[in-house]
Amino acid sequence: MTRLSVNINKVALLRNARGGNLPNVVQVAMDCEEFGAQGITVHPRPDERHVRFSDVPALKAVVRTEFNIEGNPTPEFMKLVLENRPHQCTLVPDAPGVLTSDQGWDTLANESFLKEITTELQAAGIRVSLFVDAEERFVEGAKKVGADRIEFYTGGFAHLYYSNKEQAVEPHRRCALLANQIGIGINAGHDLNLDNLRFFKENVSGLLEVSIGHAIIADALYFGLSNTIQMYLRQLR
Ligand code: PXP
Repeated sequence: MTRLSVNINKVALLRNARGGNLPNVVQVAMDCEEFGAQGITVHPRPDERHVRFSDVPALKAVVRTEFNIEGNPTPEFMKLVLENRPHQCTLVPDAPGVLTSDQGWDTLANESFLKEITTELQAAGIRVSLFVDAEERFVEGAKKVGADRIEFYTGGFAHLYYSNKEQAVEPHRRCALLANQIGIGINAGHDLNLDNLRFFKENVSGLLEVSIGHAIIADALYFGLSNTIQMYLRQLR
């Protein structure tokens, strides 16, 4: 089974555009769960242009499924995560001010740093996932660090999907086999959508979770949030 975690950053972006509390991200998180989402993801960035650090405790108090906090493990981020103890923390090497995460960790070059952070989070009972590009050496590096899971960066896959889907998915297919073999769980995210999601799932064995934000919120403008979540869940069946 592949779980659908809805990334609600874009909902916060819309709220922040007006400075009030509309839409209410906490209510949206609860509604996503009501509509069938199996997890809620937030990605608080240092500039807080999407979800704010102060949103996290309020979300933690209401999320009943899986709560996933992703981001770059700065001291401020680590404090937030350790204080709020989500089920999962996804570590992402995004530079401050980057438009969106566009690459994974070099798990070899950052081995000792990632090991230290991973150990600290796991000691607090938090599952650790490392955002990586689909390259065997980074999967092996993530295992060496002691991470519980990897999250494949799927932006490149999504881009190439429309011209050559077999070629687009091939690195993920190979790396998934390796991950299954060495015993590290597999998540995926970035630019997954109603066009590419089923194909990705069918080709990546042992896919445990996808986190999807941008396309779900864009589709919800046309189909509504409840229908949209059902449509995504159907792709994962
Ligand atoms: N995974 C990570 C690590 C991300 O940074 C993001 C974007 O915040 C996503 C998944 C979700 O990507 P998208 O919004 O394109 O679905």
